[in-house]
Order: sequence, then C-alpha cells, then structure tokens
Amino acid sequence: MNLATRISYLGGSALEFLAKAKKLEASGVDVVHFEIGEPDFDTPRNIKEAAKRALDEGYTHYTPSQGIPELREAIAEHERDYKGIPVDPSRVVVSPGAKVMIMFALQVLVNEGDEVIYPDPGYTAYRGLIMLAGGKPVPLELRAEEGFEVNAERLESLVTSNTKLIILNSPGNPTGNISRKHELDEIARIALERNLYVISDEVYSRIIYDGEHLTIASILGMMERTVIVDGFSKTYAMTGWRLGYGIMPEEMVRPLVRLQSNSVSCATAFVQKAGVEALRGDQGPVEEMVAEFRRRRDRIFELLGKIPHVKARKSEGAFYVFLDIRELGMSSREFASYLLEKHGVCLLPGDLFGERGEGYVRISYATSMENIEKGIERIARAVREIAG
Ligand SMILES: Cc1ncc(COP(=O)(O)O)c(C=O)c1O
Repeated sequence: MNLATRISYLGGSALEFLAKAKKLEASGVDVVHFEIGEPDFDTPRNIKEAAKRALDEGYTHYTPSQGIPELREAIAEHERDYKGIPVDPSRVVVSPGAKVMIMFALQVLVNEGDEVIYPDPGYTAYRGLIMLAGGKPVPLELRAEEGFEVNAERLESLVTSNTKLIILNSPGNPTGNISRKHELDEIARIALERNLYVISDEVYSRIIYDGEHLTIASILGMMERTVIVDGFSKTYAMTGWRLGYGIMPEEMVRPLVRLQSNSVSCATAFVQKAGVEALRGDQGPVEEMVAEFRRRRDRIFELLGKIPHVKARKSEGAFYVFLDIRELGMSSREFASYLLEKHGVCLLPGDLFGERGEGYVRISYATSMENIEKGIERIARAVREIAG
C-alpha cells in the first residue's frame, strides 16, 4: 500500500524485545521482565468502586470534550495543593491519557518546520509526535556525568529563530532524575528571553523518593507559556483506564478541545468519575505504592553497586534505572539481546530513548522484589561472562 510518510516517523521498536521475550517464554524459558513501564499494582479499590457506581448512575454517554466540571475542579485543586500553582478549572482539559495530550498540544502549537527541543535520552514518543505535527525534532543531550540535568548553555546553543518549544520531563523517563530549582530557573529564563513555549511532562510527579516535585509553571511568567501534562496512569496504577490531562494557557484551550472533539470526543465518562475519587479519596494506596517502589529502588541500587563495570545513578523519581554499560564494549542492543537470549532477562536498550541513550539499558523496577533479586543476579552473571 502507498502509506503516508508521516506514519513512519513513529517509533515502536520496544515491541521487538517484547515479542522476542514472549516467544522465549512460550518455549518454556523463564524470563524476568524489566522492560515494563507501568506499576505492577492493582488500581486502588475505592477507584474501581467509584467507576462501578458511575456506570450504575448512567455515566455511559459522551461528556463535554473538555471533561466533566467536577473532575476539572478536582484536578485544579490537586495542582494547587501538590504543585503549589493556582489553576483555574477552565484551563484544565481532560484527555484519554497523558500521551494523547502531548500529541494534541504539539498539534496545536507547532507549525511546519518549527523546531522543538526534547530530552535525549527521553521518553520514546516525543520525537515521532513532534514530526507528526510537522516540527523538526532537536535533541537536547542529557549527560549522566551532569546528573542528567538540562545544561543551560547547551540548551541555549540549540535555540534558533525557528525554535518554538521545549519538552521537559521530570521525574524523567528513562533517567529517573528530577529537575532542580536552579535548572528550571535557567530554562525559564531562556524560554522567556527567546519567547518559547514549554510542554512539561509530569506524569511521574507523585512518584518521588528524594527531594520534591517542582514544575516550571510555578516560575513567574511561565504559567502563560507552559502546558503541564499529567495523568492517572502511574500515580494510581490506572494505565489501562486511559485518563490524563493538560493545564494550558487560556488561548490554547478552545483549539485543543476542538481537536479533541474532532478525534477522541472525550475521556470515558465513568473513568472521569473514577478520576474524581482518585484525587479526592484516600491517598493511602499511593503512599504505600511509592514506599514499596522506594524499597525496591534502594535494593536494586545496592545490588547493582556490587557489579563491576556497570554504573547507575540512583533514581530520584519514576521507577527506572538507566544503567551505564559503556565499559562492557557492547552496544546496548547487543547487551539487551545477550541478556534476553542467554540469561532470560528482558530490558530495553538505551538507544530506544534517543541517540544519547546508546551505551545504556533501562531497567524498570515496577516488578516484585523477588524478580528484582533474580534479574539482577542474572545481570551480574552476564557481566562476569562478558568482562571475563
Ligand atoms: C514520560 C511519559 N510520559 C507519558 C506517558 C504516557 O502516559 P499515559 O499512560 O497517561 O498516556 C508515559 C508512559 O510510559 C511516560 O513514561
């Protein structure tokens, strides 16, 4: 078939590794899964109950495209209480997941040929979505030696008269780092001086172990040029429910809602009601989940610290380790394939997250402590074989 070129811009190669892992498992091999980027916990019961009640109450039809007012209000309250920013519910747009909100925000902001700066290594979807919107993706290198912080000088050197916006992601996937105040101040200064917009992907904002979550929108003047993207997938273990949101400058709201109403219509009605319960109900399950992630993080770093030739920077948020394997003299794909085929460990090669991810692999610790111990033991064995 004569397919549209733009569809080839979208990546999807993580699936390759999953398919291989599934094939091995089908042939009886025991595989430890470190590739999955979603909480292994069930959605808290109160949220499921709220969805069931909403179904019985008739939340089975279209809702306003922007989202039900009750949920937009709950989101505005949450952003105020948790991130310390004043949000009017009229600036909140509810969407079926955070990812589609990133796509919509890019569609609304980016003109053909506009340059969009995005983190490299960074979340796999950014590059393709920028190109799909007609933009030119400009990778901003994040270096392990700099704690994967945004280097203001390097950022500034990438800004041209065509730069339209910057995508930020903190806590970061795949690096697990969180943005510091001084870092955000510098990015804000550049955005204000050079008239740039920001999409701030904050889907891991509640999964924090050290320090606190800061949003660039809290810096004077930035609320008017930032789209905050957040969601329910990670915080409330609701990946399959598809619920996210964006908070954006007033002028963006109508066009973005129009795009939403012409495509996905709205987020699922009863899921929106469950979202209200997630935000306003008991937060105990979130705290327990994050406490468990923290225990796993501490254990995984303790174990990885004993393996020579590989290095890991302790993650401060999200649930990933971006492991530096450069000393092993293997590409990240070779290492990932070796681990899967010879040792039954599935993880993701760093180059999936951008060119600068080469030399690294991503380990997700959204899996049981038992799997973590088994998987890291296997990685240790593989490294011994490779390094001799
Ligand atoms: C950085 C980042 N942004 C967005 C998403 C997508 O979130 P959602 O499930 O709300 O679409 C993910 C999911 O892996 C992610 O890691």
